[in-house]
Amino acid sequence: MTARVTIQSLRAQKVRGDKIAMLTAYDATFARLLDGAGADILLVGDSLGMVIQGHDTTLPVTLDEMIYHCRAVARGTQRAQIVGDMPFMSYQESVEQGVRHAGRLIKEGGCHAVKLEGGAQYAELVTRLTSIGIPVMGHLGLTPQSFHQFGGFKVQGRDPGATQRLIADAKALEAAGAYAIVLEGIPAAVATDVTAALAIPTIGIGAGAGCDGQVLVIYDLLGLDERFKPKFVRRYADLAATIKDACQRYIADVKDASFPSEAESFAGEREPSVTPLYSGGRKP
Ligand code: KIV
Repeated sequence: MTARVTIQSLRAQKVRGDKIAMLTAYDATFARLLDGAGADILLVGDSLGMVIQGHDTTLPVTLDEMIYHCRAVARGTQRAQIVGDMPFMSYQESVEQGVRHAGRLIKEGGCHAVKLEGGAQYAELVTRLTSIGIPVMGHLGLTPQSFHQFGGFKVQGRDPGATQRLIADAKALEAAGAYAIVLEGIPAAVATDVTAALAIPTIGIGAGAGCDGQVLVIYDLLGLDERFKPKFVRRYADLAATIKDACQRYIADVKDASFPSEAESFAGEREPSVTPLYSGGRKP
């Protein structure tokens, strides 16, 4: 049996200088593929509000929707640590609200940890969660749930004093018990300084190479949205074109009746078939 990635093994990775590879996942099929590829952490990000649900921001995502996707991802993994995002307004109201909802992500969603956006203002919540056994990943910099406060998805941490403020927030999260922090959309030099100030790992997205690990939204890495290519994304595939091409060929085959062929039909079989009708996330 493959050993599961833990908060302790991630800390050891930082100490060894062994970079942490995190990816987002939203369903069992992708989770199985990314787990098999060797991702250390699978984040069920509230980015699903944008890439799955088609919203312009992450703000509309609900806790029940997060739990639904977390359960699917949990079914698809053996090794990766699964982190569930706390969606907007699922923890901002009070410590009690945050504890109740983080508990649901663990208990019902099958996550191993939760992630929340924000710094020192959530130190009390992080302390409570870690004291009851719920590991917490922090998230600083361009925190998408503050879209309206920031006036859009804008790089943060450029103004004088920003580095010191980010370090203070990161240290407050670390002191409260957070086991890792995502640094998003900040200058590389700032992320490097924050990383150096912490014993816990930092995981960057649009934050340069000085972090202890990196995360990308899987749809961006695979080039599933040809309209979206920000500077910080490296596309490792052009699946939008591949998928369109495959579907156009299928449609043409259906239209000219060359699909299905005889070999792809259950000709004359009277016995019930044992072949599953869909591959889905089923185990062989
Ligand atoms: O929601 C998400 O996918 C995230 C990552 C991009 C860090 O928060």
